[in-house]
Amino acid sequence: MRIKTFEEYQTAYKQSVDDPEGFWAEVAQQFKWRKPWKKVLSWDFNEATTKWYEGGEMNITENALDRHLEEKGNQIAIIWEPNDPGDEAVRITYSVLHDRVCRFANVLKKHGVKKGDRVCIYLPMVPELTVAVLACARIGAVHSVVFGGFSAKSIADRINDSACTMVITSDGAYRGNKVIPMKETVDNALDLCSTVKNVIVMTRTRTPVSMLKGRDLWWEEEVKHVDSVCPAEPMDAEDTLFILYTSGSTGKPKGVVHTCGGYMIFATYTFANVFQYEPGEIHFCTADIGWITGHSYIVYGPLCYGATSVIFEGVPTFPDAGRLWQIVEKHKVNILYTAPTAIRSLMSFGLQYVKDHDLSSLTKLGSVGEPINEEAWQWFKQNIGGSHCPLVDTWWQTETGGIMISPLAGITPEKPTYATLPLPGIQPVLVDESGNVIEGNDVSGNLCIKFPWPGIIRTTYGDHERCKQTYFSTYPGMYFTGDGCLRDEDGYYRITGRVDDVLNVSGHRIGTAEVENAINMHLGVVESAVVGYPHDIKGQGIYAFIITDTKPDDAEMFRKDISATVARIIGPIAKPDKIQFVSGLPKTRSGKIMRRILRKISEHDMNNLGDTSTLLDPAVVEEIKRGAL
Ligand code: WTA
Repeated sequence: MRIKTFEEYQTAYKQSVDDPEGFWAEVAQQFKWRKPWKKVLSWDFNEATTKWYEGGEMNITENALDRHLEEKGNQIAIIWEPNDPGDEAVRITYSVLHDRVCRFANVLKKHGVKKGDRVCIYLPMVPELTVAVLACARIGAVHSVVFGGFSAKSIADRINDSACTMVITSDGAYRGNKVIPMKETVDNALDLCSTVKNVIVMTRTRTPVSMLKGRDLWWEEEVKHVDSVCPAEPMDAEDTLFILYTSGSTGKPKGVVHTCGGYMIFATYTFANVFQYEPGEIHFCTADIGWITGHSYIVYGPLCYGATSVIFEGVPTFPDAGRLWQIVEKHKVNILYTAPTAIRSLMSFGLQYVKDHDLSSLTKLGSVGEPINEEAWQWFKQNIGGSHCPLVDTWWQTETGGIMISPLAGITPEKPTYATLPLPGIQPVLVDESGNVIEGNDVSGNLCIKFPWPGIIRTTYGDHERCKQTYFSTYPGMYFTGDGCLRDEDGYYRITGRVDDVLNVSGHRIGTAEVENAINMHLGVVESAVVGYPHDIKGQGIYAFIITDTKPDDAEMFRKDISATVARIIGPIAKPDKIQFVSGLPKTRSGKIMRRILRKISEHDMNNLGDTSTLLDPAVVEEIKRGAL
C-alpha cells in the first residue's frame, strides 16, 4: 500500500488513471473482507451516484481493531492527553480499545440500537468519543458526530434531519480554563426533538446534570452490566458508515454520507501514503473528531493502519502557547498535523514558547483546512520542523472523505503554500466560468474532479437531489469542489479558497446564509449580508452588514446582543467579528445583493468596486464605504 519513491508515485498515479478499478482493487485486497466484492466501481455523475466494492462484506472495526490483535494487541492505539497538563495522560492498547468498543457496542444494542439507526454523538475530545464512534460502526449504527462548539439549536437540527434515536454526551467538557455544559445543551436540544429514546451520559467534569428517568443513562453504570463479546455486524461496502454535517452556500447544513468500504480504503490509503507512517510512530492530529479531519486522521485512518494516534482534549493556548510543543516533547510525537490558523496564532506569541521544548522527535508535519500563507508555512517548517521535516499541505473536504491533493511526505518535492500534486486515483481539472476545461499549466480556475475515488460523498442524507444540485450540476459530469485553484508552470496545484458563499473561519466551514439567517432572527434586524474578510489569524473573519428598523441607541451593546443570538442559533464559532450598521445594501434591480462590492469594502479595497451602475441605489455604496470598519 505504501509508495516509497517519487518514481513509484508516478507509476501508481499512471496506473490509477489507466486502470482505476485494477488500482483500487489491489489496494482493497490488503484489508480484511468477509466476502469479496462483485464489482469494484459503478458510477454516474449525472445522477450523483457512485458505488465502490459493491457486494463486498466487511466491518470497518474488524480492520481498525480485530485485525491488529494478534500482532499488535499490546501496542498503544490511543494516547489521550487531557486538558490539564497536570492530569495523567492515558494510553490505550489495541486490545483494551477492542474490549471497550465491544462493551459499549453491547450497551447500544441493549438499548435497542440496530443496524442503520442513527446515533448523535456530542462529546469532548475524550477516549470515549473514539469508543462511541467505533461502537456504532461495530453494530452498523450510523454515527453523526456533532462538534462540541455547536449550540442546542444546531444539535437539534442535526438530530431531527436524520431522526437520531440515541444521543451520547458527557456531563460537561474542559476547554482551557473553562468548564462547558454538554448535557444541559443536549437537554435544551432535546426539547426540540421527538425521535430520541435514550441519552447516554459519560462523566467528565461531574457538573450537576438533570437525568430523566426512562431516558437518560450513565455511561459508567451501563458498561458494568454487559460483557465484552460483540461480533462485528457484517456490512455491505455501500452501507452507510456515518453522516457528518457541513455548511454549504445555501440553507441548512447538509448531512454528508460516507459508506463503509470505500471510505475505509481511502482514509487508510491516504493516511499511510501522505504521512509515510512508519511502524511505531506517534501521530498527533490536532483537529476535533467533530470534523472530518478527526474522523479520517485521528480515528479511522490511523487505527485501520495500526498506528498510534494522539487525542488532545484541550486547546493550543492553555495553560500557555507552548502546549502543543509540550505535548510533542512529552509523547515524543513524530507526525504533527494541524491547521494554518493554529500555526498563525502560535506564531504571534513568539518563539519563546517553542525554544524550551525538545521537538527532535518530529519527523513529519502536515497542514489542513485552509490555504496556508507563506509566512506560516516557513515558520512551521523552520521553527517546528527544524527545517528537516517534510511539510505536507493537504487539500481535501468533508465530501471527499480523505486527502486529495498533497505531497507525499519526503517524496514529492515541496513548494511552500502549494498542495502540489493529486494523490493516485484523483483526477483534478480546472474549469472556467462557462464550464470549459482549462488545459495546460500556469492557469487558474474552479477546481473539479472528473473521476470518482473511493472516499467520494455518496449522498446528502435524506435529500439526494441536494447532493446532485450542489456538487454535480454546476459542471455536468464532474464533481465541483467549490474551491478556486491555480496550476503553476510545474503542474503543481495551489488552492486559493472558496468561490462560493462558504466562509472558512479558523478552518471551520460556515455558510454566509446560515449566519445571515441567525442575525435576521434578532429583534430589530431588518436585513443582513455577511461576507468573509482577510483575518491575520483566522484566515477569514466574518463581516456583517446589518439594516435595523431604528438606529441603535447603544451600537456596541446591540452588536453584543446580535452576537449572542448567533451563538445561540449556530454556536460561538459563527459570531461576527465585525458588525456595521447600514441603512441599505447594494442590490441589483432584481433585488440580488452584490456581495462582490461588500467583500471589496470589507477588504478596504474601496477603489476597485467594479461596475456599480446596475445597482438600484448606488448612493448606499458611498454610505457603506464611509462607515467601513
Ligand atoms: C478548505 C476540511 C487550502 C477548502 C478537510 C475546502 C483548504 C474546505 C485546504 C473544506 C488546504 C481544506 N488548502 N484550502 N490544504 N484544506 N481547505 O469540509 O476551501 O471542513 O473546500 O474539510 O476547506 O473544509 P472541510
